[in-house]
Parts: sequence; structure tokens; C-alpha cells
Amino acid sequence: MKKFTILVVLIIAVAFVGSAMAVPPGKNVELKGGAMGKVTFDGKSHADKGLKCDDCHKGNTPFAMKKGTAKIKMADHNAGKLCFSCHDGKKAFASKENCAKCHKKAAAGY
Ligand code: HEC
Ligand code: HEC
Ligand code: HEC
Repeated sequence: MKKFTILVVLIIAVAFVGSAMAVPPGKNVELKGGAMGKVTFDGKSHADKGLKCDDCHKGNTPFAMKKGTAKIKMADHNAGKLCFSCHDGKKAFASKENCAKCHKKAAAGY
């Protein structure tokens, strides 16, 4: 019985630690972003807007829970895919004219 309890506690602990690490709310994903400069996806700022895991990961759509899986191309910017399924000027700021909100060029000299 005792062993069983310990096992259950362990499983819960592992599951909890797993999700605590997994949660982009504590995490950023850095993307190179090509010539426009790197893009940082901030998990916390998205969670703070009330977005749930399922809004981005339901059935791995639009994003898999694995960094570097999404291949985000210029065409996606205007096709309402990936980030741009929300960043379309309705659910969130539009990607057109707001390049610099996502793409940060390193300051001169860096
Ligand atoms: C607004 C969209 C969005 C929300 C909401 C979101 N994520 Fe993510 N998540 C992403 C993106 C984007 C990536 C990176 C995917 C890629 O690089 O292909 C990611 C990556 C991950 C990864 C992989 C991290 C790594 O280092 O490999 C995990 C795990 C994850 N998310 C879990 C969660 C959990 C749990 C929640 C809810 C608490 C959540 N995500 C909410 C967009 C989101
Ligand atoms: C499920 C919808 C959704 C998806 C998918 C999504 N975002 Fe957002 N994002 C939002 C909302 C909502 C806000 C806050 C409202 C606003 O700023 O227009 C936001 C805000 C932001 C901001 C400004 C706040 C900050 O973190 O500095 C950036 C930058 C951003 N998103 C980048 C991205 C990138 C990059 C991706 C793809 C990897 C992405 N978002 C995918 C909904 C989304
Ligand atoms: C909502 C955030 C967001 C906004 C706004 C945004 N981008 Fe991006 N962009 C991304 C992400 C994420 C990537 C993929 C980065 C990576 O995977 O390295 C990307 C990639 C790119 C690439 C490289 C594409 C490739 O095929 O390698 C170019 C060029 C680009 N963006 C141009 C722009 C321009 C121009 C604008 C403004 C009109 C813009 N972006 C606005 C998030 C954004």
C-alpha cells in the first residue's frame, strides 16, 4: 500500500514538473527570423492575454509542443497560418506594418 502511494505521488510529481517546465508561460521561444531580425515568442505574455494551451496546441495545431517544429515562412504571414492565424488584425495585431513588433534587429554595434 505504502509503495503504491509513493508511486502515485511520484507520478503526480513528474507530471507536474513536466507541465511546469513545458508551459511556455515561463518560456520564450527564440526564432532566427531571417533578414528581418530575430523573433521572440513570449509564452508568458500570451498566457497573460488569457490564451490557453489548446488555442495553440490542440491536435498540434497550429503548433506542436516541440521547439523548432514550425517552419514559418514569409508566405504564412499573409496566409493566416501559424502565428498569423491570430496576428491578422482581428484577434491580435496584424503582421502587416507591425514587422518590428515581432522582429527585433540587434542594435548597431552588437
Ligand atoms: C499563443 C500560442 C501558444 C500558447 C497559448 C501556448 N503555446 Fe506552447 N508553444 C507555442 C509555440 C509557437 C511553440 C514553439 C513551436 C515551434 O517552435 O515549432 C510552443 C512550444 C511549446 C512546447 C515545446 C517547448 C520546447 O522547448 O520544445 C511545449 C512543451 C509547449 N509549447 C507547451 C504549452 C503548454 C503546456 C501551454 C499552455 C499552458 C502552451 N504551450 C500554450 C505557442 C503557444
Ligand atoms: C492563438 C492566438 C495567437 C497566436 C497563434 C499567436 N499569438 Fe501573439 N498574441 C496574441 C494575442 C491575443 C496578443 C495580445 C494582443 C495584441 O498584442 O494584439 C499577442 C501578442 C503578441 C506579441 C506582443 C506581446 C509580446 O509578447 O511582446 C508578440 C511579439 C507576439 N504576439 C508574437 C507572436 C508570435 C511570434 C507568434 C507565433 C510564433 C504568435 N504571436 C502567435 C495571440 C496569438
Ligand atoms: C506576429 C509576429 C510577426 C510579425 C508581425 C511579422 N513577422 Fe516575419 N516572421 C515571424 C516569425 C515567427 C518568423 C519565422 C522565424 C524563424 O523561424 O526563424 C518570421 C519570418 C520572417 C521572414 C523569413 C522568412 C523565411 O522564409 O525564412 C521574413 C523575410 C519576415 N518574417 C518578414 C516580415 C515582414 C516584412 C513583416 C512585416 C510586414 C513581418 N515579417 C512581420 C513573425 C512575425
